Amino acid sequence: MKIRVINGPNLNMLGIREPAIYGSTTYEHLCDLIRNHAEKTGVSVTLLQSNHEGDLVDYIQQAYGVDDAIVINPGAYTHTSVAILDAAKAVGLPVVEVHISKVEDREDFRQISYIRQACVKTITGHGIAGYTEAMDYLKENYGA
Ligand code: DQA
Repeated sequence: MKIRVINGPNLNMLGIREPAIYGSTTYEHLCDLIRNHAEKTGVSVTLLQSNHEGDLVDYIQQAYGVDDAIVINPGAYTHTSVAILDAAKAVGLPVVEVHISKVEDREDFRQISYIRQACVKTITGHGIAGYTEAMDYLKENYGA
């Protein structure tokens, strides 16, 4: 199974940004964790990150015909981007939405998720473990 893992704005600053909310693990460490988990579970993984909305749309579109599923943490674009929602709908792949923090316990503006309506599952507040949980869910439910 081929899973594309996409991270949005400021997730490259993991370990530096607001560690009380997002933890002290760096983005590089997160990538290592995901790659190791992929190897252990027999999944192939592509890791992408961008601070730009259009890049995230491109990354989702590029999964079409290439990958079997998507794990995405769109960062703040979760709460604003119809374009990212439309891209997820366009490719028609199973998508799991991941948030490191428990967004439902945070500010009002974080209570809207546009992409959620195109997702088969949402994982919030499990820290970086949310990414590997998302991969396992996709493998169990959509793997060959
Ligand atoms: C986040 C939550 C978003 O509200 C925030 O803008 C992020 C990270 C999370 O992983 O908890 O950048 O998606």
